[in-house]
Amino acid sequence: MLNVAVLISGTGSNLRALLEQTADPAYPARVVVVGADRDAPGLQHAADFSAPSFSVPYTAFSTREEWGEALAEQLRAWEPDLIVLSGLMRLLPPQVVSEFAPRIINTHPAYLPEFPGAHGVRDALAAGVDQTGASIIQVDDGVDTGPLLAQERVAVLPGDTEESLHARIKPVERRLLIDVVRRIATGDIDLTGARA
Ligand code: GAR
Repeated sequence: MLNVAVLISGTGSNLRALLEQTADPAYPARVVVVGADRDAPGLQHAADFSAPSFSVPYTAFSTREEWGEALAEQLRAWEPDLIVLSGLMRLLPPQVVSEFAPRIINTHPAYLPEFPGAHGVRDALAAGVDQTGASIIQVDDGVDTGPLLAQERVAVLPGDTEESLHARIKPVERRLLIDVVRRIATGDIDLTGARA
């Protein structure tokens, strides 16, 4: 069984999909803890599934490094096999990445390397492209630059808003995330030598 820690900042709808999947005894991973960098509404999903949770508020620390050390201390206590950044809207400091890499993955609402960063959906719309996508990557020290584990195209439709487009991307992200976590658990994806 793969023990997964999930980090969020927001509504955690993708986290919820993963929690629902892990309720299936045939699924080879379970969520051991959910963490957030703020009082995120998505922490309620952890409570709904009786999963432990914690919050390490970014604004309570004077530097990103101090926040990262407090976050790492929480994570260490749960000894996760994998850390999933599922809408964590903060860059992990390098010392946290180096402590847990290569066992950190991130979901992103664009077809990387297109439109990295905090506004992947908005940036795709602003660029006027007719297709964007969803990606799951391994986390490195860059901004959405790590090795790709899975990705899929999503069409941009006439009249799309950031909200409508994101709402169509998220189900694709969920499907890819659930599949990637399963493949990591079964050894089909080897994070020490990641391949798509
Ligand atoms: C997801 O689309 C995730 O890929 C994105 O935030 C959303 C979280 O949704 N992450 C990023 O943009 C990271 N750069 P959720 O809170 O409803 O799961």
